[in-house]
Amino acid sequence: AAVVERTFRVGNLTVSRLCESTVINAVNGRLPGPTLDVREGDTVVVHVINDSPYNITIHWHGIFEILTAWADGPNMITQCPIQPGHSYTQKFTITGQEGTLWWHAHASVIRATVYGALIIRPRQGTKGYPFPKPDKEVPILLGEWWNANVVDLANEAFLNGTSLSASDAFTINGKTGDQYPCSKEDTYKLEVEKGKTYLLRIINAALDNQLFFKIAGHRFTVVAVDASYTKPYETDVIVIAPGQTVDALMVADATPARYYMAALAYVSRDNSSNLPFDNTTTTGIVRYKSASPSSQPVMPTMPSFFDNDLAFRFYSSLTGLCRPGDGTVPLHVDEHMFVTVGLNFAACLPSQVNCITQSLAASMNNASFMFPTTMSLLEADYKGVEGVYTDDFPDYPPVFFDFTNASVNSDTALTFTTKSTKVKKVKYNTTVEMVLQNTAIVGIESHPMHIHSFNFFVVAQGFGNYDRATAEKSYNLVDPQERNTVAVPTGGWAVIRFTANNPGMWIMHCHFDSHLLLGLATAFEVENGPTPESTLPPPPPDYPAC
Ligand code: C2O
Repeated sequence: AAVVERTFRVGNLTVSRLCESTVINAVNGRLPGPTLDVREGDTVVVHVINDSPYNITIHWHGIFEILTAWADGPNMITQCPIQPGHSYTQKFTITGQEGTLWWHAHASVIRATVYGALIIRPRQGTKGYPFPKPDKEVPILLGEWWNANVVDLANEAFLNGTSLSASDAFTINGKTGDQYPCSKEDTYKLEVEKGKTYLLRIINAALDNQLFFKIAGHRFTVVAVDASYTKPYETDVIVIAPGQTVDALMVADATPARYYMAALAYVSRDNSSNLPFDNTTTTGIVRYKSASPSSQPVMPTMPSFFDNDLAFRFYSSLTGLCRPGDGTVPLHVDEHMFVTVGLNFAACLPSQVNCITQSLAASMNNASFMFPTTMSLLEADYKGVEGVYTDDFPDYPPVFFDFTNASVNSDTALTFTTKSTKVKKVKYNTTVEMVLQNTAIVGIESHPMHIHSFNFFVVAQGFGNYDRATAEKSYNLVDPQERNTVAVPTGGWAVIRFTANNPGMWIMHCHFDSHLLLGLATAFEVENGPTPESTLPPPPPDYPAC
């Protein structure tokens, strides 16, 4: 195994998109940022230097971070931000994961332009991939673009008690695609050769949208999601939520020509009709080497942007490959949790500053997460500092929602929420089963729920209200898919299981940034285990202070 050492310099970059020029934050002057290409077992050392005018942090999305919670990166959860002019070296070892992950900023909405791929290949001398070796590997990072400075937009929205405005475009590898004005050159192009096989490493780095992804005239075989191998799954459409990755094989077996690849928002909350190309769409071009560069590319037929059934079919059809030595789904559950996820309204306490009564809020079990301001959760836990958080994340019994009328809810206790910093404390190696139930208070919507450090098994999912007696019959405890982000079906539920086998403070949140900032989050406080191998070491010497 190797030590892979890199420098990430975060700074201003002026780019032109959609006929305008905009100053963004970017790593090493690139959008997307540099790809980290490593092998399982490698140790990664990244020197993060903040030359930008903002407080930033960098997170390694999906990495287990065994005994390296200090390097995880979420702002005020495992560290204070790296202030302008400061730096922080993050070091971690990649243990027991292969496939595609990514890294991104984890403060405010800076990840809109501060993100990149993190590719983990099998260790040298192992059997390699559990599928035929592709001729070429291609990262496909899907993103969103705002013409204005997105951090300013988010701050403004926050002060007004609203949510971040919709983006001006979607992007493929940082480019908007030639369907937008002034974007002819700003189009991602992939050249392919007839008969060859391509491994597409697809990452949804968009801030606030799930996406449908297609390539005209071609099909995919999904072989991994969230850096966990799956049984091969054939499909002509990929459905991917922010935070998720999909590794898909594509054989260039079509008539040599030019084909569009396209990503379209999957808007689970809306049923208005979609327009063929608007600011919820992006395109790239797949060109066969022998095809004329001037031929008109073939456009794929995209799903309608509220196709919940299609999304559910894709998400629920995946199963794990379960190779020997891989983690297996816990059959015994120590801790059963029922957790509501959704939007509601803020009820302000007189003592709360900057709180607008009845403004939009989001919560889990009616606790709307407030980031601490003086010290990270992890530092407070490690040093035993009181008053930064409480470990009374509420328990909730199943609550029933009227999904036919999202403005009427049977439990009015959930309509208003207050901000607090509540975490869920568990002992080392606790096995957890969590039922995630979407609410119907302010609309219904599919929320992509992500946990740091732990992959979980998605054992069941469905629409409507969760009912244990019937749901349990559908639990897959044999070969469930393993993920780090699950899109809880809109107006429905998902059941996940995992083992809390790493001491630290691990945020769990909706991977729509707007919802995270509205409070759709909590954290797991996982205690140290009995041995030095299960005890978190002290923070590194350059650990950022607030
Ligand atoms: Cu992609 Cu909290 O992370």
